[in-house]
Amino acid sequence: MAELQEVQITEEKPLLPGQTPEMAKTHSVETPYGSVTFTVYGTPKPKRPAIFTYHDVGLNYKSCFQPLFRFGDMQEIIQNFVRVHVDAPGMEEGAPVFPLGYQYPSLDQLADMIPCILQYLNFSTIIGVGVGAGAYILSRYALTHPDTVEGLVLINIDPNAKGWMDWAAHKLTGLTSSIPEMILGHLFSQEELSGNSELIQKYRNIITHAPNLENIELYWNSYNNRRDLNFERGGDVTLKCPVMLVVGDQAPHEDAVTSFLKMADSGGQPQLTQPGKLTEAIKYFLQGMGYMASSCMTRLSRSRTASLTSAASFDGNRSRSRTLSQSSESGTLPSGPPGHTMEVSC
Ligand code: BEZ
Repeated sequence: MAELQEVQITEEKPLLPGQTPEMAKTHSVETPYGSVTFTVYGTPKPKRPAIFTYHDVGLNYKSCFQPLFRFGDMQEIIQNFVRVHVDAPGMEEGAPVFPLGYQYPSLDQLADMIPCILQYLNFSTIIGVGVGAGAYILSRYALTHPDTVEGLVLINIDPNAKGWMDWAAHKLTGLTSSIPEMILGHLFSQEELSGNSELIQKYRNIITHAPNLENIELYWNSYNNRRDLNFERGGDVTLKCPVMLVVGDQAPHEDAVTSFLKMADSGGQPQLTQPGKLTEAIKYFLQGMGYMASSCMTRLSRSRTASLTSAASFDGNRSRSRTLSQSSESGTLPSGPPGHTMEVSC
């Protein structure tokens, strides 16, 4: 496993009084499926897993996760964890376009690259945070390496392969839409796209003018060729760790993830549009795993106010004796033994 390059940069994040700049270090490692780039923020904390993110199609780690990780209340969380943000191959800033005919890794192979990253960093366990394709990749990794995943935050996951109806619709859309428009339709709802807010304009611009659009199309194809994760309610294929599922209330695939945590007013990408709500939910999730003192809990723990539109369930047992399972046919969510249920007021 050869290291290709290592770049040290200091992030230009505005600092709070008394704060010192946090170093971000970008690395690339060689894997059996090609090289992969990832950026590490912060320093490893003893006896704590790394927060490990994987972004969706059309994005990279920054365009997917910066609004969440830079959000004010998120600082309480991140100061307690080292973060590893992966860029899918060819998605890193300045990535050269892959040569014609390049065999892009499947989502399963992208998941198989993760052990090389953790081995390189000498990290033993992670809490995964993934969006869309990234959520699928982290779930696949957790299924094959359950002992290394302490928890998963899965945003807008669709665990199922495309059925023939989906394929037909996809092919038809492909006749009239460009790749950027198809990817935007994966990330955002039609309502958001036609509303053309500043956020939509920004992401439309990023994707349409991406210098690595050919690479993005390869990741998109791998996503569309994914196989079923095959979660089964009470079956053999189950995630062994606590899982928090999140879906935007207007996410294009909202019906694929029913309602563990359906975020009101969050459109298709809750981590971009509702970082505050998501931060609060993640704090509860981490607290359930024994990683956040309740003194860090803000608004919600004090008021215990409930909102019926935003609810989350999670398994708060760090012994990992609980199993969450998911039925792909019915689109139901991890059920398993009853976990805590939380509601987020916004
Ligand atoms: C972080 O602090 O983990 C972070 C900063 C900028 C972009 C993404 C993540």
